[in-house]
Amino acid sequence: MSETPPSAVPGAQVPPGLDRILRDPGFCRHSTGRVSVVEWESGSGWSEPRIEPYDKLQMDPATLGLHYGQAVFEGMKAFRGADGSVSLFRAADHGRRLGRSAARLAMAEMPVELFTRACTELVAADERWVPAGYGQSLYLRPLLLATEAEMGLRPSRSYRCVFLAYPADPCFGSDFRPLAVTAATETVRAVRGGTGESKCAGNYAASLLTRTEAQAAGYDEALWLDGLERRWVEELSTMNVFFVWRGEDGPRLTTPPCDGTIVRGITRDSLLTLADDLGLPASEEPTSIDAVRDGIRSGGLAEMFASGTAGVVVAVGRLGTGGQDLIVGDGKEGPVTERLRTALLDVQHARTPDTHGWLLPVTGNAGAATIEGEGRHA
Ligand SMILES: Cc1ncc(COP(=O)(O)O)c(C=O)c1O
Repeated sequence: MSETPPSAVPGAQVPPGLDRILRDPGFCRHSTGRVSVVEWESGSGWSEPRIEPYDKLQMDPATLGLHYGQAVFEGMKAFRGADGSVSLFRAADHGRRLGRSAARLAMAEMPVELFTRACTELVAADERWVPAGYGQSLYLRPLLLATEAEMGLRPSRSYRCVFLAYPADPCFGSDFRPLAVTAATETVRAVRGGTGESKCAGNYAASLLTRTEAQAAGYDEALWLDGLERRWVEELSTMNVFFVWRGEDGPRLTTPPCDGTIVRGITRDSLLTLADDLGLPASEEPTSIDAVRDGIRSGGLAEMFASGTAGVVVAVGRLGTGGQDLIVGDGKEGPVTERLRTALLDVQHARTPDTHGWLLPVTGNAGAATIEGEGRHA
C-alpha cells in the first residue's frame, strides 16, 4: 500500500521530501513512519497507547485473526484548519463504531477514551504530516486484530490495535469526478443478522470479486442490493449512497436505512445533520433499484451520490442496471451534491463553526507557520 516509510523512528526528523509528498499525497501512498499501538490481554486488559516505528507485524502462522477473521478496522481523518490547527473529525464516533464492530466478532472492545487518546497522540506526533489543502487530510486506519495462536475455533484471548497514518487526498481523487457504478446481480455483500454493519475484514473480502469484475467492465464500484429480494439498494463497497429527488417544493434527499446490513457511515450521519442545517428535507427510506431506474428515466431522480470518510462526497453519474447504462441527470455533479460536500469540508477544515461538536482539537496553530517549510517535528 505505502512506500517504504521515510521516517521509521518516533521523533525522527521530517524527511526532506515531505513538502512534495504533502502537495500530492495520493491516497495512503506514504506512511508517516510511525504507528500507535494498544494491546489487550485476557486478565490484564488494555495497555496504554505507545508510539512505535512503522514495522512489519511478527505473527505466528496459527494466529486466530488470520484463520477465523477476527479483524475489524476504522477509517478516519484529521484535518488542518484554516488557521493551521489540526483536529480529528468525530473521533469518538469512530471509536464507538470500532467497539460495535469488535463486539459483533466477539473481540475485546476498546474504551472510547483510550481509542481517542491513541489517535490524538499519533496525530500530535505526526502533526507535520497533516496536509493543508482543502479536502486533504491525515488518514488514520486503526486495525484491531486477534493475535493469539490457537487452532481451535474460539475468540482470541489477546488483541493488538495498530493505528496507521497517511497523508491523503480523497480516495477517488480531489477532482470529485462522478463515479460509474453497476448493480450487483450475482452476489450479495451482507444479509440481516450477518456482519454487514461491522467494519470487519471479511465484508471487504466478500465484496472484492464483484467489485473487481465491475471495475474490469469499466465501472468504479459495484452497487450492493439486499441479500433476500435483490431489490433494495444498500451501499457501495466503501461508501453509503444518497438520492436527490425532484420535488414541487425543491430537492428531497433520501438514503437507505441502517437495518444491520450496511455500515453506519459517519459521513452519512454528518450529511443528514448538515442537510437539516441547510433546510434540505432528508430521510432514511428503503429505495428499490426499480424506483432508481424509473427516477432516472423520468427525471424524478435529479442526483445520486456516495458518501464515506475516504472518498468524502462523490456524485454517481452513471448506473449500470438491468443490462443498461443509465445517466443520472446530465452525468455531472449536481448542485445538492456539491453543496453538501462543501458544507462538510468547511466544518472539517474549521472554515465554519463546529456547531455539532465534531472536531477534537489535537494541536494549536503552531503548524501553520511551518506548513511550507522544514519546520518542527514532535
Ligand atoms: C461498506 C462501507 N459503507 C459505508 C462506509 C462509509 O462510512 P464512513 O462515512 O463512516 O466512512 C464505509 C467506510 O467506512 C464502508 O466501508
